[in-house]
Order: sequence, then structure tokens, then C-alpha cells
Amino acid sequence: MASILAYERHLPPLPHFSPSTSIASLTFAPLYLSLPLLADLLRTTSRRLISATKKRSVSTMANEEENVKQKLSKLFEVALKVTVPSVVDVEPLVAACTGKFGDYQCNNAMGLWSKIKGKETEFKGPPAVGQAIMRNLPQSDIIESCSVAGPGFVNVKLSRNWMAQSIQRMLIDGIDAWAPRLPVRRAVVDFSSPNIAKEMHVGHLRSTIIGDTIARMLEFSRVEVLRRNHVGDWGTQFGMLIEFLFEKFSNWEDANEAAIGDLQEFYKESKKRFDSDPDFKERAQKAVVRLQGGEQKYRKAWTQICEISRNEFNRVYQRLGVQLEEKGESFYNPYIPAVLEELTSKNLVEDSQGARVIFLEGFNIPLIVVKSDGGYNYASTDLAAIWYRLNEEKAEWMIYVTDVGQQQHFDMVFKAAKRAGWLSTDDNAYPKASHVGFGLVLGDDKKRFRTRSSEVVRLADLLDEAKSRCKTTLIERGKGDEWTEEELEQTAEAIGYGAVKYADLKSNRLTNYTFSFDQMLNDKGNTAVYLQYAHARICSIIRKSGKDIEELKSMGAIVLDHADERALGLHLLQFSEVVEEACTNLLPNVLCEYLYNLSEFFTTFYSNCQVVGSAEETSRLLLCEATATVMRKCFYLLGIIPVYKI
Ligand code: ARG
Repeated sequence: MASILAYERHLPPLPHFSPSTSIASLTFAPLYLSLPLLADLLRTTSRRLISATKKRSVSTMANEEENVKQKLSKLFEVALKVTVPSVVDVEPLVAACTGKFGDYQCNNAMGLWSKIKGKETEFKGPPAVGQAIMRNLPQSDIIESCSVAGPGFVNVKLSRNWMAQSIQRMLIDGIDAWAPRLPVRRAVVDFSSPNIAKEMHVGHLRSTIIGDTIARMLEFSRVEVLRRNHVGDWGTQFGMLIEFLFEKFSNWEDANEAAIGDLQEFYKESKKRFDSDPDFKERAQKAVVRLQGGEQKYRKAWTQICEISRNEFNRVYQRLGVQLEEKGESFYNPYIPAVLEELTSKNLVEDSQGARVIFLEGFNIPLIVVKSDGGYNYASTDLAAIWYRLNEEKAEWMIYVTDVGQQQHFDMVFKAAKRAGWLSTDDNAYPKASHVGFGLVLGDDKKRFRTRSSEVVRLADLLDEAKSRCKTTLIERGKGDEWTEEELEQTAEAIGYGAVKYADLKSNRLTNYTFSFDQMLNDKGNTAVYLQYAHARICSIIRKSGKDIEELKSMGAIVLDHADERALGLHLLQFSEVVEEACTNLLPNVLCEYLYNLSEFFTTFYSNCQVVGSAEETSRLLLCEATATVMRKCFYLLGIIPVYKI
């Protein structure tokens, strides 16, 4: 635990994108200009103001892609400029809030006040600044009312009409209309990345699940994602494996997966040989040299071992519905010499005790890039990979998903890349690299998750158990008689695998998490099973209404008159900014929290507002449909397959 806290301290400040606001893109001018100093300006702009006001609705339409927070930020940007013209480039601090006075709040007044106090100003204090910001807010159809609270917080209540129309438009245009926009075109997500012939353990499961969700969220936000499996397919262990293959199979070239069997067992056996027989050890060490020298027989054996491992990994990816493109460590070998040459020419690399190293400020050990035996290592490969990703693949953002134990490695590699001028030194600018660290998976005993015989838990076994437990529950509920075997299987997989994923994603990734089937398969509380039930229930409400929902979408209208309808509607509208936040800060748990809250808002709405048979039936059915649509998108982003009936 202590080490995790230490890592947290090492984390770079969370990246922050300011909404891509540009004052030039606003086609309407502020309504009030309260500063006498601006009297002239007022005169010249008043004419433009009138025509601009007419155009206002057009401008809101044109910016349909922005989320609520971005729209409000633009409005406040105008207000801030007009309120205090002497302070330039003030970034609007707009955030959703839960108070009863507003849905969003702008918190710039205090900061602005500290910049202007003591200077010539008409304001008496932050509340007056807040009042002025509010007065200077351009009129907009998204705002119903504003108020100022405390030390100048400007509260905004959104217009119900506008909210209702936005949701309805989403139902017609599809949820992709609510995809956030990120200021990055192409990203590499380096995730899963197990090591050949070694076990793919629960740590790799976390990397696979977290990385896949991050990739999905970025893809949804229209970033082109290169999903990279940086498998450990190079290194000294291969000498041992190859030599063992030769020893065990006289006709090793024909030894296939079935013959070799379990690669992990194979690894263990060969390790035993390596540790106990000096002759074998020597042969294994020579084998590494021959492999790295490109000797054909050794390359062939290496390819064969990699292939068997790859098939095993692919079976897990297929079950999890995860797409990955392998570019293993070996891929970058040919690039290492030139990359190190470049770093040397930039005076970054120096000799130290026979090795070649990079000394970096803030670290008490250097980054070794060539070992004293002349070989390359994990760091040299990662430096070459950064170079390749930037220059050949033209990625602007590189995201690495591994356990927090590798934080220091990445800190050092990224720092070296910054010193080489490859990455921006400003953490908010591109190109940049981010390490997405995660904590350990613990067992019930709060120790590292192991099997009873204290073996590493296999992923395939975990998935099997999740599925079979779900199937048993479904059969207990009588679904065995109602459904076909295929339906039973598919539902058990969707719920079981979804539960494993959600349990991993729902808490902040930096914390350790305890793996418990009982907990994750519980149908109450914040679990995927509960959420699947919630979704299936909404689908059943719509089904049972007997109404054609497509027809309702085009004919009917949403009204948000009841407080619980409005609260649900507001939460739906915040979907886009939540995904944006989850992407920006690389925190899938933010999306899980949103999804769980969505189902809670829905429950409150459904308990207090009669849907079928009420006067508001059409509107409420549309709200049900919008909720189910957003829920399904959340499931999709979390890699969970939704079920429509349970
Ligand atoms: N194979 C490594 C491991 O199992 C993870 C690789 C992560 N990616 C990277 N570019 N270093 O720990």
C-alpha cells in the first residue's frame, strides 16, 4: 500500500484540455456591457448585437457537437472578457454541480477579484464580480435562469425545453452525436502486453480490461487508436526455452501446441533445468546469443514458441471481445541502434561501469540503455518504441497500461524522451506519453490473488468460473425451461464476463482491488449484474407498453416537468462530458460511476412517475429509451455486452 501512495505522489498533474473555445466562433455578442469604460464599445457593437441576437439560435445549432459544459464555457468566456477586459485569457471555470440553485456553476469571480483588487475597479468584492459576470452572460436558449451565491459563484439553471429537445435529437441522430471531441487525432494504447511463455496473470487481465476501455472511449471520441500488444517476445528466457525444446523433442520442428501442451508448465520445467544443471545453463546462454545473432534454427524455434503463446493469448482476447495488434518487443530491435545513436548525439547517453546509461534529474539511478554485456534491455526497446510511434506511426498520445510497479520505468523513459525533444515538456501539450498505472488484484485474504495451491490464477479459469456461476443462477431462476441453450450460454457469458470487467473498472485503478465472485455477481449494489438487470427492466417496460418506439421518436415529444424527469434528463445530458473527463484523466471508473448513478436516477424517476398508461406516457417512454440508449453506450465503452431480458 505504501508503495502505491508513493506512486500517487509521483504522478504527473492530471492533463487538462481547455474546451476548444474560440471567441471568433461565437456569432452573438454580450447583452450587457456594464463598464462605463466600454461605453464606446457598446455604441459600436449595439447594432451588431441586434442582428447577432437573431442569429443566436443558428449558432447553437451549428455547435450541436459541443457538450453542455463546453457550451456554457463559451458563454462565460464572453461574459468574463466583458466583465474584466483588462485581464486576458481567463479560462472559464465551469462545472456541473448538485446544489438546488443550479445545474452548473461558474467559479471565476474569486480568482478574477484577486487579480483586479487594489487596482482601479468598479467592483467592491467577489460577489459584485459574480453579479457582473452574470449580467454579462450572453442570452442563450440553453439557460433558464441564473443566480449568484456566496463569494460570487454564478449558478446556471438549464432550460427544460432545451434539455428535452437535446435528448430528443440524440434519440433521432443516435448516441454518436454525443461523442466528445478530443484535441488529438491518433493515439497508441499499449496494453495487455503479456510475456511469451510466462503466465498471463491477473495483472495482465487488468491491463487488458482497463486498456480496452480506454481504447474504446478514445475511439468513440473519434481518436484513431492503435491498439498495441507490446508482448515480451524477446529476452534471455528464450535461450532456456529453445534449448529445452531441442532437448525434449528430437523432432522439435513438428512439436506443436498439442505436443508441447501447457506453455507455462513448459516454462517451469525449463527453468528447473536451467537452475539445476550448469551444462544446460551454459547451452541456454549460448542459445540467446545465437538467437540474437539471427541463426536460422534458433529463429525458427523462437517463432514456434511465440506462435503457441500467441494462440493461447488470442483465445482469452476472443472471449473478452478485445482487439489488439501485436507488435512485440522484438519488432523494435532493428530500430534500437539508430535511436541510441540519436540520443548519444544529443549528449544524453554516457558510459557508466561498462554500461551505457542516461542520467536523469530527479532519479537516483540512471536509465540503463545498453547492458554491460552489450545487450539491449526493456528500456532500450521502449525508447525505440516511442521513437517509432512518433515518427512512423504519427501518434500524438502514447498511453501505457501496466501495474504501478512500472511507474518509475516509464517516468524515466518519458523523461529521456522529453530531453531528446521528442515529447513536449508541457504535460498538457502534445505529443505526450502517459502511464496508466493500476494496483494489485487481491484475494479474499487481502494478499496477492493466488489459487489455493498458491499458483498464479489463470485467466481462462476465472472466465470459466464467472460464466458457470451465472449459468447456474439463470437455471435456478427457471430460465433453463424458458430459453434455448444458446440463449442461456450467451447470457451467462455476457453477465459473467461483464461482471469480471466491471469489478475491475469500477474503482480508481490506482487502488488494489479484491477479486470476489460473490461480490461481483451480486445482483444488488454497484455491480454489472445489477446494471444489466436495470437495463433489461427498461427494455421490458418499453416492450410491454406495446408502442413502436421508432414511431414515438419521430412523432412524440419529451417533456421534463416532473423534478425526477428533469434530474434524469440532466444526467443523460452530461454523458458526453463524463466520457471526455474519463478520457482526459484516463479513469474508466468515472464512467462506471456515471452509469451507476444513471440507473439510480432512473429508479427514482420510475418509482415516482408512472410511465405506461399515464398522460405523459409518450414522453416517459422516450425518456426510458434515452436512458437505455446511454446505458448501452456505457456498457459498450466498458466492453460489456448488454442483455435485453433476464
Ligand atoms: N510485458 C510487460 C509486462 O508484462 C508489459 C509491457 C508494457 N509495455 C511497454 N511498452 N513496456 O510487464
